[in-house]
Amino acid sequence: MTSRALSPLDLLLVDAQNALGTLAGRPVARRPNPAADTADVELDASERRHAAGLMRINHVGEVCAQGLYFGQAAVARDPQTREHLLEAAQEETDHLAWCADRLEELDSRPSLFNPFWYAGSYSLGVLAGLRGDGWNLGFVVETEHQVEAHLDEHLESLPEADLRSREIIKVMKADEARHADHAEQAGARVLPQPIPALMTAASNFMKAVAYRL
Ligand SMILES: [Fe+2]
Ligand SMILES: [Fe+2]
Repeated sequence: MTSRALSPLDLLLVDAQNALGTLAGRPVARRPNPAADTADVELDASERRHAAGLMRINHVGEVCAQGLYFGQAAVARDPQTREHLLEAAQEETDHLAWCADRLEELDSRPSLFNPFWYAGSYSLGVLAGLRGDGWNLGFVVETEHQVEAHLDEHLESLPEADLRSREIIKVMKADEARHADHAEQAGARVLPQPIPALMTAASNFMKAVAYRL
């Protein structure tokens, strides 16, 4: 089915379904969980709490990625850009599912504010997309670089023994770098200040909240 065959109402319903799938459903990964063969080392209570806080941040990051990509895809002009965005969103679904699995293993849960994060990111995606495909792809590059940087911080900060979270984060980091490269090659423009600075501020706020709630 191509996007040309879909009416605006169809597109709206597809978007609503994607949102519900991200927020209320149990996303299914296409690839195996990278931690599947890694030992689940016993963590003490404070290590577990810290690991869960970081994995909840990563889970929120993936909820935001879904919102951003679906928002951008909804208004992308070029069918190739749209396809590119939806392809990246599929890999983000793997990340979402792996983070949800790990949160469950750590006896924790996703952020209570996921509907808020999703709605905010979707709106940002639509706004970016309306400015044209170069901007759209520029947002992808900036987002992916920021996510990559915070995944690096998490690899530093996770308890040494949390090997399973580490395996998941390593694969996510490689995927995010590839998403950024692809968007760059597809013609992303470099976002001018203050956009990257505002995105960093929003992501720091998100991280501070999602670590606990
Ligand atoms: Fe991701
Ligand atoms: Fe990504």
